[in-house]
Amino acid sequence: MPVPLLDLKAQFRAIRDEVMPALTAAIEAQQFIMGPAVGELEAAVAALCGTREAIACASGTDALLIPLKVLLAPGDEVITSPFTFFATAGAIANAGGRPVFVDIDPATFNLDPVQVEAAITPRTRAIVPVHLYGQMAAMERLLPLAERHGLAIVEDGAQAIGARRRIDGAWRVAGGLGTVGAFSFFPSKNLGAWGDGGMMVTQDAALGERLRKLRVHGGAKQYFHEEIGTNSRLDTLQAVVLKAKLPHLADWSARRRAHARFYNEALAGLRGITPPVTDPANEHIFHQYTIRSDRRDELVAWLKQRGIGCAVYYPKPLHLQPCFAPLGYREGQFPVTERAAREVVSLPVYPELTGEQRDAVVGAIREFVR
Ligand SMILES: Cc1ncc(COP(=O)(O)O)c(C=O)c1O
Repeated sequence: MPVPLLDLKAQFRAIRDEVMPALTAAIEAQQFIMGPAVGELEAAVAALCGTREAIACASGTDALLIPLKVLLAPGDEVITSPFTFFATAGAIANAGGRPVFVDIDPATFNLDPVQVEAAITPRTRAIVPVHLYGQMAAMERLLPLAERHGLAIVEDGAQAIGARRRIDGAWRVAGGLGTVGAFSFFPSKNLGAWGDGGMMVTQDAALGERLRKLRVHGGAKQYFHEEIGTNSRLDTLQAVVLKAKLPHLADWSARRRAHARFYNEALAGLRGITPPVTDPANEHIFHQYTIRSDRRDELVAWLKQRGIGCAVYYPKPLHLQPCFAPLGYREGQFPVTERAAREVVSLPVYPELTGEQRDAVVGAIREFVR
């Protein structure tokens, strides 16, 4: 039985009757730029994250880039993970900063706070933790470091909208802990638009006001510009889609967790296969369900041959990307990251996955191991 890695058509079938009338109404209103749905979505995301401000923008990349431009002076060092999507470090560099990579925790694939601390220099200005695959980084250890050294934290929550972490006995939501949190609404994300989209969240009202200006060319009033911003608005139509989808997010993430529990049990003890580890402090949203395999490339080929969707996020660590060669990193410098890049493979975990499909995924992996 073929199983896609992601089935957005199945999601569309389930929500079509909710989204299409709202979309038609927005089209009839013809207010495509900054229509009412944009502000309504912002309010809903701020409520989800427990932040004062939420500012919609054109992509997750911009949700990182715009705040980093505010926070960084040219050449400032920004500590981040080499095991993430390119945009994390690309945004740092495009904002004028210098990405400083440190190795990850082997269990969670997230930034290792001990290595973050060791990398802080007088030029460090910010930390960009990535909540990879949908579970949060150890924010309770990064926040005191940032506080002590006067650093900003920009949370890359692109893969983690609605993920939570228990800190000092209370649930804290991804994006709501740092100076700014960034989200992506790329269609494959847990909350995906029908095109590109992003959101910045912050507790800082003054910073929020600046970000709001910078996404429309740096002026609060049309044709008057205090700063040089850009055009990074979220389309009204995307906001309509996202607003209709948002009430489903918690249920979709719970279904992803249920699939993950099933896989964890079914794959436990299989030789050469390591299921993912959820930090007990985290409520994971399983944007990806990512296993390790000691014969990863063979496993990928095997699954593909049998029509089982899978993907490697990410095969080449960022410190080894040609564009970052001027930073002077070399192979072998971040062994945990480099090993992860050789071993990881993500399996289908989308909410609409059926029992039969899950069995087919597990069956194919069991056969491979045999
Ligand atoms: C970790 C991470 N950061 C940043 C981004 C950038 O988001 P976007 O594709 O919406 O620009 C993505 C998603 O693509 C991502 O997965």
